[in-house]
Amino acid sequence: MTRIPCLDYNIVIETGFSTLAEELSRLGFAGRGICIVSDSNLAGLYAGPLQDLLASAPGGARVSAYMFPGGEENKNLDEIRAMYGFFLERRLDRKSLVLALGGGVTGDAAGFAAATYMRGLPFVQVPTTLLAQTDASVGGKVAVDFMGQKNLVGAFYQPRLVYINLDTLKTLPPEHFANGMAEIVKHSLILDRDFAEWLWEERARIMAGDTEAVRETLRRSCGIKAGVVSRDAKETGERELLNFGHTFGHAIESLSGFSMHHGQCVAVGMAAAAYLSMERGYVGEKDLRRCEELLTYFGLPVRARGFEPESVAAQMRLDKKTRDGGVRLVLLREAGKAYVEENAGEDEIMRALKYIISM
Ligand code: GLY
Repeated sequence: MTRIPCLDYNIVIETGFSTLAEELSRLGFAGRGICIVSDSNLAGLYAGPLQDLLASAPGGARVSAYMFPGGEENKNLDEIRAMYGFFLERRLDRKSLVLALGGGVTGDAAGFAAATYMRGLPFVQVPTTLLAQTDASVGGKVAVDFMGQKNLVGAFYQPRLVYINLDTLKTLPPEHFANGMAEIVKHSLILDRDFAEWLWEERARIMAGDTEAVRETLRRSCGIKAGVVSRDAKETGERELLNFGHTFGHAIESLSGFSMHHGQCVAVGMAAAAYLSMERGYVGEKDLRRCEELLTYFGLPVRARGFEPESVAAQMRLDKKTRDGGVRLVLLREAGKAYVEENAGEDEIMRALKYIISM
């Protein structure tokens, strides 16, 4: 077992679910009501066995399971209302636990319901996609979409535990594995050059799904994220660095009508931000190439053909992180060291967009 501290909780990395009941008991949840909120796509795979496992653990928790229809299109207040109804019917109270089992959408929605029902029920994240394991489940961002805007209504509400079962990755489709790798590469580029080099050296083992290589990848990646979150839980400073590639990426994601995966858009966005960092003379051409090679190796795009630079720029100006008309961007001061640029120029943004779109 690998254990990484984050604020006042742990991120546990395991193979299998065998120690989950023990972890919950250690947190005082033995015998309490537990509601597993699971993505309906995963239900047959993990929710049933996990429900049995927790119900038969010493102390015999009362375990119910709620099937949340997966997909970003269901991450909305109507589905939260239905979840509240289930919590009420099952008589969950403030001593009960909400256990989010699934990808980022499930964690965001279940976490939001947990944060608001009875002014807050404890919750635990059991992420089953690489993206959720390395990013979404860590750090307490919970939210739903509203009026077409992603994560517009939400809270910072920290889980009591993040429990990662590496075995769940065995059934993850390759494009979803790549999706998670985008955020992992991001963590290395913004804060840990050694980790970026390690990812390059170990790339073949990681891609082959070697359990120990993936465990080490997650240990280092979650460690970076946990460090940032522990220093800046509410994103008033350093946590903004996690938006590297995201301002470009979100614009492309919206313009694609969400047909492109988040990780794919972030990968293209990182290429744009790295290009801009190179143009400013902060990183060398070699660093830009390495960033792109790493992303490409993990099955991610670094170009976005078929988009108009002007439309992407206009979409970027709508970003939540835009202030007073200027575009805030996370750039690389050097490889493995990012900073927030308060006022990126229109011209340089256009050049970076032409770079990712034209080739
Ligand atoms: N995914 C970015 C953050 O947690 O702040």
